[in-house]
Amino acid sequence: MEELTDRLTDELIVKLAEKHSLSESEYVELIRGRDTDIGSRLAKLAVKTRKDIYSNDVFTRGLIEISNYCKNNCLYCGIRCGNHNAKRYRLTEEEILSCAAEGYELGFRTFVLQGGEDPYFSDDVLCGIVSRLKDAHPDCAVTLSMGERSRESYKRLFDAGADRYLLRHETADPVHYARLHPSEMSFENRMRCLYDLRDIGYQVGCGFMVGSPYQTPETLAKDLKFIEEFKPDMCGIGPYVPHHDTPFRDMPAGTVEETVYLLSIIRLIHPPVLLPATTAFGTIDPQGREKGIQAGANVVMPNLSPADVRKKYELYDNKICTGEESAQCRQCLDDRMRAIGYRLVVDRGDIKEL
Ligand code: 5AD
Ligand code: FES
Repeated sequence: MEELTDRLTDELIVKLAEKHSLSESEYVELIRGRDTDIGSRLAKLAVKTRKDIYSNDVFTRGLIEISNYCKNNCLYCGIRCGNHNAKRYRLTEEEILSCAAEGYELGFRTFVLQGGEDPYFSDDVLCGIVSRLKDAHPDCAVTLSMGERSRESYKRLFDAGADRYLLRHETADPVHYARLHPSEMSFENRMRCLYDLRDIGYQVGCGFMVGSPYQTPETLAKDLKFIEEFKPDMCGIGPYVPHHDTPFRDMPAGTVEETVYLLSIIRLIHPPVLLPATTAFGTIDPQGREKGIQAGANVVMPNLSPADVRKKYELYDNKICTGEESAQCRQCLDDRMRAIGYRLVVDRGDIKEL
């Protein structure tokens, strides 16, 4: 019986690698069929697929965590507005520009401005920062990861020079979405944002947490089908990691095994996708980012935030790299990638059109 299941799962992998598509029920079967053997076969195919497109290059993005104020109250997130223990901060325009200048010297050619949904960052304020960044570093891409905004706001930011936008869809199942978020937030608006961003001309990233509370093979199959259809330029997936000051504090973290399995599947679904080995993955396993790259990921996002705020941008417990300087993180990742036969490149790292 076990052999039969293995053979069937194997056929699914081959089909996925060839056609980049499975039905939702086949995705369910593939997720349920996960074991070490299937995982390593999947990873081999995923690594070959990424090497054919990106060889051994790993792209970097300098992450600048600009604010941990957030008006939302997502049940899993450590910077939710209901967490009164969080020490709040926001960076000034000058601080953001100086992080980027330091990053430029270190070889970063993409800056990701990430923050909670902080009303302080109005369109005027954020557009000013984006255009100053682009003026200072015209050869760099600016990525925003600032949550849900209106279509007009996304358009203004794009016109100010923003190139990319990251907004994880969190889950493609509306019922699951409602279990992870308070009733003021809606699945429909999340999806509206992603389609508006695409329509305006951004390179768009979606994504989800692996092992988020109430996730099932069925909800994951919907995530995979959504990725197959939406074809995001970027896709951020990392394990769910509990935060002690949230309602989900006792929910178990996602696992290494499931994270690598899903990274490999996503590489096969959409071969050119920019797929980061996330900091959350490095948090649950000291070798997490290496394992991510060896499962088909091709991006790392070291931290460029000023050292004194890193600990405060705490979406989950035990976040790594909170004590290091930017230069140390860059060097550390450079060494880690070299050790597994890859190299960090000095490049904007745009998606390769096939
Ligand atoms: N564990 C892992 N990832 C988290 N995020 C938020 N909270 C957590 C957590 N506890 C992720 C969400 C969000 C992104 C910025 O960080 O997916 O979109
Ligand atoms: Fe930050 Fe290793 S990447 S210390």
